[in-house]
Amino acid sequence: MKIYSKEIIKHFKNPKNVGKIKDPDGVGEAGNLICGDVMKLYLKIGKNKEGEKIIKDIKFETLGCVVAIANTSLLTTMIKGKKLEDALKIEKEDLIKRLGQPLPPIKIHCSILAVDALKEAIYDYYLKNKIPIPQELKKEHQGIIKTREEIEKKYKGFTIFEEEILRK
Ligand code: FES
Repeated sequence: MKIYSKEIIKHFKNPKNVGKIKDPDGVGEAGNLICGDVMKLYLKIGKNKEGEKIIKDIKFETLGCVVAIANTSLLTTMIKGKKLEDALKIEKEDLIKRLGQPLPPIKIHCSILAVDALKEAIYDYYLKNKIPIPQELKKEHQGIIKTREEIEKKYKGFTIFEEEILRK
């Protein structure tokens, strides 16, 4: 029996949109309390023909595992060109479903990094541009920050090391 679907292996072996964006409009970081892994996501925001704000470009860096990489690669391909409000509606369950075949239970927690980092990057963009932040996003931001603080307490030395790698 295969542990991972073909789709997961495909994205893991050839992940899309890996790297940094120079002068990003929004940056989001998220961590996973179970394993201590970190995800960093960069956004460039543009406008569509109707003048609505869309995700023009997106890139990510992570020290997460196979599932975290596959999930985030998939997410980036799904949301390029999407309106910010629509991108915010994507949940980890949508990614898991699209990646096919149920994940091993121990790997379900890995799916949260991509959506959390995306929410944080959009939050960052709203904040920097003084755009009113939806109540729901504010609440999610508080939760993500709390998780990051707990990770820092739990995995202190290691997360500092990981963040240094992502900063380079
Ligand atoms: S084990 Fe950490 S993201 Fe998967």
